[in-house]
Amino acid sequence: MTSRAEPTDSQSVPQAEFALRVNGDVHDLRTDCRVTLLDALRDELGLTGTKKGCDQGTCGACTVHVDDKRVLSCLTLAAQCDGREVTTVEGLADGDDPHPMQAAFLKHDGYQCGYCTPGQIMSALGLLSEGRAGSPDEIREYMSGNICRCGAYQNIVAAIQEVAGDHE
Ligand code: FES
Ligand code: FES
Repeated sequence: MTSRAEPTDSQSVPQAEFALRVNGDVHDLRTDCRVTLLDALRDELGLTGTKKGCDQGTCGACTVHVDDKRVLSCLTLAAQCDGREVTTVEGLADGDDPHPMQAAFLKHDGYQCGYCTPGQIMSALGLLSEGRAGSPDEIREYMSGNICRCGAYQNIVAAIQEVAGDHE
């Protein structure tokens, strides 16, 4: 006797309906309830600034803010964010004016290929609001979840230090 996989019945996929508020805009979504926030942002909303690196919670490329706290969007279900405030890198600039952290990354050459940069910037802003940017060592410690394969770490620390200084 042979066995074969049954065709997937789309009706059997558990669906979730929820409102995702991203960068001030509300999106009504109906998706597989297992969809991550990262995939919803990129695939459903076309917000590809947030990057998928490891998809396992170890590289930080997917960092966004939920209710002003930094989170790894690859480890967060989109449906969990119903009614919460999500901010991505696309939401930082003020019109044509970059956010001060974006400007500091440019000034200090804090990126090379740029793939990790959105996650680094979102994490850096989380660092500031957590009050954990008091010294280069502290910055390095609390940015340690954000991996840069190009090794732009020194310049990233310099950019964060500059913005942190402006906050003091
Ligand atoms: S893609 Fe989320 S931590 Fe790497
Ligand atoms: S700038 Fe290339 S991975 Fe960080």
